[in-house]
Amino acid sequence: MRTKLHGALSPLISLDRKSAKPFHRQIYDSFRAMILRRALQPGQQVPSSRSLAAELGISRIPVLGAYDQLLAEGYFESRAGAGTFVSSFLPDEALAARPGENGGRAKPGPVVISKLSRSLPVEWATWARGPGAFSVGQMAYEHFPLRVWSDLVRRRVRKVRASSMNYADPMGSKKFREVLTAYLRTARAVDCEASQIMVVNGSQQALDLCARVLLDPGSPVWVEEPGYDLMQQALMLSGCRRIPVSVDDEGLNVTAGIKRCRNARAAFVTPSHQYPLGATMSVSRRLQLLDWAHRHSAWIVEDDYDSEYRYESMPIASLQGLDHGGRVIYIGTFSKTLFPALRIGYMVIPLSLVDRFAAVRHASDFCSSQFHQAVLADFIEEGHFARHIRKTRLLYAERRSALVQAIHNVFGEQMQILGAEAGLHLVVTLPDGLSDVEISARVARQGFWLWPLSPCYMGTKARHGFILGFGSTAAADMPLLVKRMQKVISA
Ligand SMILES: Cc1ncc(COP(=O)(O)O)c(C=O)c1O
Repeated sequence: MRTKLHGALSPLISLDRKSAKPFHRQIYDSFRAMILRRALQPGQQVPSSRSLAAELGISRIPVLGAYDQLLAEGYFESRAGAGTFVSSFLPDEALAARPGENGGRAKPGPVVISKLSRSLPVEWATWARGPGAFSVGQMAYEHFPLRVWSDLVRRRVRKVRASSMNYADPMGSKKFREVLTAYLRTARAVDCEASQIMVVNGSQQALDLCARVLLDPGSPVWVEEPGYDLMQQALMLSGCRRIPVSVDDEGLNVTAGIKRCRNARAAFVTPSHQYPLGATMSVSRRLQLLDWAHRHSAWIVEDDYDSEYRYESMPIASLQGLDHGGRVIYIGTFSKTLFPALRIGYMVIPLSLVDRFAAVRHASDFCSSQFHQAVLADFIEEGHFARHIRKTRLLYAERRSALVQAIHNVFGEQMQILGAEAGLHLVVTLPDGLSDVEISARVARQGFWLWPLSPCYMGTKARHGFILGFGSTAAADMPLLVKRMQKVISA
């Protein structure tokens, strides 16, 4: 079957206007790379040179140049009256034996890799590269107490001994886990002992470990619709069967999940601040979810990624704290409260699973860095962490209000804002007929980012809108940025 590539192509071919490489070469390279890694399938139709040129906002000449080259080399074929297609005859052997990039040496043999790894996208979307206004997952790094942190690092470096250089406990350092236990009990109402805590390299590793320990290929798993793309990708690598379950103002719709697949093995959820739409799961839904998990011996994975930041009420207690049957695996991270390059997160594991998780962790990467756990334990124990949260809560509250106000001023009733009560992002929805992916691709690299909402959906009809991070953008800049956003949307 032939597939047409309408607007979906533009984010994949992104021209670097500052590059010394001419446009025709950039277009040629992008197509060739996509064909070779099978992102474009043999026989698939490609856009006409005219429409691609229009999508990219350039003249037709470089597009024609690239197409001619691809036709000449056999990557494309043209069919009279039908258009241009990816060549139907690109056998695997020929691709595997293709000449190397530098100097025509043949590759040693076919590249046989797992189907699961091939299911992941290999290119980052153009809108997801680097810092800039509205970028999601960016924090106010300039407000991080770097002096204090550096002093603590220096103090710890002086204490390094030969004995602290060995492999360590896959669960994490004892001291740090004790510090975390006190924090989680107090700040997140998590019901835990230090022996249940595993220190991990960010929540992403925790999600990966949950998938490895809890799921088999084909296991049905509830995922939020819309949901967190990197959670989806961790699940894709396990080969499980993801079942999208809708979310509404009360979070995951448990009744809908039960209707779709009562016997799911697990549910992966973000109850404190649903990603991306921002709902807080109501108590009745939490109890319903726990009840379902107990009745069906299912697991609940709670990704509690940014609940330290809540602006109109106290932080919401964890779902794990309501569980009396050991069905919840709780995940937290320092990526939002401190900085993501730290790569420190943690899990609270039900006692029945601790040994399994430790064994799988040991087999995958032994343990986390001891050094940074020690520094972070000092940082928390000496009060710097609590101080930093208090300070940044006020800062982010100010940035959030400025953004909400600017959206109201510029768009009035035209734009709906969702999920602004907590965290470091909010969502704005677009009027019908506008494509968030197309607009996002257009603004990429103009100094601000509009992360599209629709790719967060996997099954049902997607809503279009933007996920706007406000953590790294000064309040004073919001009015101007929102005006620029309006310009781009109305263009
Ligand atoms: C839903 C969600 N979970 C977790 C994380 C944090 O991931 P990590 O701790 O691996 O940096 C993020 C970061 O953006 C997120 O959006």
